[in-house]
Amino acid sequence: MDAAELSRAAHDAAWSMPLAEINPADPELFRTDSWAPYFARLRAEDPVHWAVSPVKDIGGYWSVTRYDDIMAVDTNHEAFSSEPTIVLPDPAEDFTLPMFIAMDPPKHDVQRKTVSPIVAGGNLRNMEATIRRRAGEILDTCPIGETFDWVDKVSIELTTMTLATLFDFPWEDRRKLTRWSDVATATPDSGVFSTTDPDAAEAERRAELFECVDYFMRLWNERVNAPPTFDLISMLAHGESTRDMDRMEYLGNLVLLIVGGNDTTRNTISGSVLALSQNPEQDRRLRENPALIPAMVSETIRWQTPLAYMRRTAVRDVELGGKTIRAGDKVAMWYVSGNRDETVIERPDEYLIERPDVRRHLAFGFGIHRCVGNRLAELQLKIIWEEILKRFPRIEVVGPPRRVPSAFVKGYEYLPVLIPTRN
Ligand code: HEM
Repeated sequence: MDAAELSRAAHDAAWSMPLAEINPADPELFRTDSWAPYFARLRAEDPVHWAVSPVKDIGGYWSVTRYDDIMAVDTNHEAFSSEPTIVLPDPAEDFTLPMFIAMDPPKHDVQRKTVSPIVAGGNLRNMEATIRRRAGEILDTCPIGETFDWVDKVSIELTTMTLATLFDFPWEDRRKLTRWSDVATATPDSGVFSTTDPDAAEAERRAELFECVDYFMRLWNERVNAPPTFDLISMLAHGESTRDMDRMEYLGNLVLLIVGGNDTTRNTISGSVLALSQNPEQDRRLRENPALIPAMVSETIRWQTPLAYMRRTAVRDVELGGKTIRAGDKVAMWYVSGNRDETVIERPDEYLIERPDVRRHLAFGFGIHRCVGNRLAELQLKIIWEEILKRFPRIEVVGPPRRVPSAFVKGYEYLPVLIPTRN
């Protein structure tokens, strides 16, 4: 089947199956890019939807799919807790990773405050020239006239370099960060491990994450005894609310910062190339008017929504959309669906870089957990496109992308591109 036939088949299946059978957390919907009609049906017919996943660590969960309802949940942290985790599968009892995205106030607030200066305006201004130089160097090594993988060559390379700078991480080992980022979010069938057996894959995942924390522990020990420096490890080691973290909490916060800083921006960079190649008229407008780059960046973040949902857990009974969510129930806020809500965003399935209110989207979340790195993400996207436009009149996507088989990280493993000529 070609892409149009696949999309028609997904539409027909989504609108004909019994509502109760729709399980939006099925990774297949994302691997095959057929998620959109399922969420369109839920927004129309059952905007606060109960489903039971066959995955045993997930079980029953609510799906909130309309823009305003998502906003209501995300901004009500008193009723909807981020503990014990912000993904649907429950944490294993013998391997919990505390991290501040999965904490409620007051602990969340003080830990967030400890690291936020690294992504605040002043430091972003300091980093801009470095990111620009690296972006230019990466693009200058892209081959002309032959197919290559944009994900690995450009998206991963740039975001991993930025992350290494945030941690002041040993430069030659920086691809370890990419690996740990993949390992942290991988499922057994994702191809990241040497096995697809769930228990064996989980054992590999834990072993690699322990290598990660051991590596970072060495850096911590070096920095905790030295005067504070302006990097994430030194900030955590000297921060009043973080200096006494145990090993698992250190690992948890590292995973948060590695995944937060890596996968999301990486997948949006790849998404921008795909979106513009599927929408040549938008590509033409951008190239005619590079002042549209910031708007294009926001539109891509909405269109891509690199984190499809965040989970909350109800702490008391709450009415939402005519349903009663009971204390203890899991609730998925599907940003990917809110960002396609036709009652809030006009022509939401289209990619339109000049749409009014282009910054109006849910992809960074809202409320006390709203993405702390949003400006850094936007900065990297802006710079890479400014540098692309200086160099390449066209980037062609020459084959289908391979998508991450996950309902949480919405992104690309592989994107074959060809750059015919340089300016
Ligand atoms: C396009 C890129 C990005 C997207 C779409 C994104 C999205 C998100 C989302 C949806 C949340 C949770 C919001 C909520 O629960 O209300 C979040 C939180 C977070 N993000 Fe990002 N993110 C991106 C880039 C980054 C970068 C570059 C960094 C780090 C340097 C980062 C670090 C974090 C952290 C630390 C949190 C936890 C904040 C808290 O709990 O207070 N993110 N992000």
